[in-house]
Amino acid sequence: MSRLRVGVLVSGRGSNLESLVQAAKDPLYPARVVVVCANRECPALEIAKKAGITRRLFPLAKYADREARDRAMAQILLEHDVELVVCAGYDAILERPFTRRFKGRIINIHPSLLPEFAGTMDAVAMALEAGVAETGCTVHIVTDDIDAGPILAQRRVEVRPDDTVESLRQRIQAEEHSLLPDLVKGIAGQPLPLPLPR
Ligand code: GRF
Repeated sequence: MSRLRVGVLVSGRGSNLESLVQAAKDPLYPARVVVVCANRECPALEIAKKAGITRRLFPLAKYADREARDRAMAQILLEHDVELVVCAGYDAILERPFTRRFKGRIINIHPSLLPEFAGTMDAVAMALEAGVAETGCTVHIVTDDIDAGPILAQRRVEVRPDDTVESLRQRIQAEEHSLLPDLVKGIAGQPLPLPLPR
C-alpha cells in the first residue's frame, strides 16, 4: 500500500501532530508524516524527533522576508515528495507562492466552528467571551483568504456554564485529535489536489 506523504507545519505544543503520528503507527493507516516544519523552536519538534521524523526549523529572522521563508519551506516539502500539507497549530500566514504551489493540498485545523471566530489565535477565548452555547473545531482547505477556505469537516463542542478557556480548549482538542486523523485518512482515498471553487 502506498501511503499519502504528509508534511506537517507546527508552531506549538504539537498535540495534533501527535494524533497523526499515533494514527500512522497502524500499518493500515493510509498516510504518514514524512517531514515536520516549524517557524520557531517548539515542543512539536520534540514530538517529531521522538517519532524519528525529519524536522526543519524556518525562523523568519533567517530569511529576507516571509516569501523567502515560505520558498525554503516549500523546497523541503517538495524534496520529501509531500502530497498533503497539514497546518497543525502553525501560526504564521502562508504567502501566495506557497499557497499556489500547494493549491488544494494544504489543510488547516482551527478551534472554532468556522466562519465563527476566524483569523485569530484566540478563538477559544473569544467563543467563551461571546457566550455562545456551542463551539468546536473545523478542518478547511487553506487558500489566500485566512481561515476562509472550503470547509471539509467540523465537530461541535458544547460550552458549559463553568467552562474556563482551558477546560473548553481541552474538550475542543479532544475532538481535534480524532477529527484530523479521520479526515487525513479520507483525503488519502481521494484524488489530489482537492477541488477549490474558481
Ligand atoms: C489547535 O487547537 C488548532 O486548532 C489550532 O492550534 C492548536 C494547536 O494545538 N490551530 P497543538 O499544537 O496541535 O497541540
